[in-house]
Amino acid sequence: MDKVVVTRRLPGQAIDKLRDKFAVTVSPHERSLSYDELSELCHGAAGTITMLSDRVDREFLESHPELKVVSNYAVGYNNIDLEAAAGRGVTVTNTPGVLTEATADIAWALIMACGRRIAEADRLVRAGRFNGWAPELLLGRDVYGATLGIVGMGRIGRATARRAPGFAMEIIYHSRTANRQAEQELGARRVELDELMSRADYISLHTPLTPETKHLIDERRIALMKPTASLINTARGPVVDEAALVRALRNGKISGAGFDVYYDEPKLTPGLTELDNTVLLPHIGSGSHATRRKMAEIAAENLSAVLEGRTPPHPVRA
Ligand code: NAP
Ligand code: GLV
Ligand code: GLV
Repeated sequence: MDKVVVTRRLPGQAIDKLRDKFAVTVSPHERSLSYDELSELCHGAAGTITMLSDRVDREFLESHPELKVVSNYAVGYNNIDLEAAAGRGVTVTNTPGVLTEATADIAWALIMACGRRIAEADRLVRAGRFNGWAPELLLGRDVYGATLGIVGMGRIGRATARRAPGFAMEIIYHSRTANRQAEQELGARRVELDELMSRADYISLHTPLTPETKHLIDERRIALMKPTASLINTARGPVVDEAALVRALRNGKISGAGFDVYYDEPKLTPGLTELDNTVLLPHIGSGSHATRRKMAEIAAENLSAVLEGRTPPHPVRA
């Protein structure tokens, strides 16, 4: 039986079902593995189901010559060196689609939380500082009727935009190619990124992390934002120059920011937690029971397919 390593316990039954066909080892730890622990655990494995926190680089791939498949338990795969994998004939797979709606919901949770200061308001009540209704208590900014700017109009970007007509929002977006479906269904208009930065009230990021998108939202682009606007990042931390964003938030240059992902997670950029105009989530975009179960099923099927000589449902290519 081929050895298969799953680097973290997963919800649902999908991994147990793999035990009929493979010798499955699941990491015993209730935390992410270090690089060395990952390497050790994967010794002799033909396949592995990895988390987005596992770094699968050239050195790892070279030191595990038996490996045929790296099945990432995520849609994003910036943790994996695709070129090195292709060079060694290792198939890389991901879990697109099933997490689209759950992640769009979280983008919206952050949009609402930033606009109407939900986390700040919750902190006030818990601190015993709610002294009764007041005309100027925690005044926020309208979501209804505002302009939504989507950066990266792919699966999750479009799902986020699809929720906007209920809030009578104007939708503008930026991607390298046009998304005709979003334009036809939602009246979304494609604009240059600088125009989007300067016009949108809520800017929501949905690109993958690639060499091209690293610091796509840099200091200059943050400076284009309206002082009343909020930036929402459910994509990947390094898409934003987070230190520059913290400065803009601290200096009141923009209204707020909602984070599900961070520059060097789980580390937080200094200053972030002291700011009242940020909403900080611990990378839970796809974190609904149903979605995480479906992701496990897809990751298991991707892995089985490769090891059984079939075409996996979701291969990713360099
Ligand atoms: P997708 O369908 O591939 O969409 C990505 C979009 O980004 C595409 O429309 C692409 O359009 C655009 N894009 C790529 N490079 C760009 C660039 N340089 N400038 C502007 N736009 C660019 O992917 P998805 O399924 O929506 O997922 C998107 C990302 O969300 C994932 O890669 C992952 O990092 C993140 N994610 C986070 C969570 C979470 O838990 N917070 C959950 C799921 C996913 P063009 O190629 O036309 O530019
Ligand atoms: C989560 O961040 C994913 O990429 O699936
Ligand atoms: C507020 O609670 C209102 O009734 O306007």
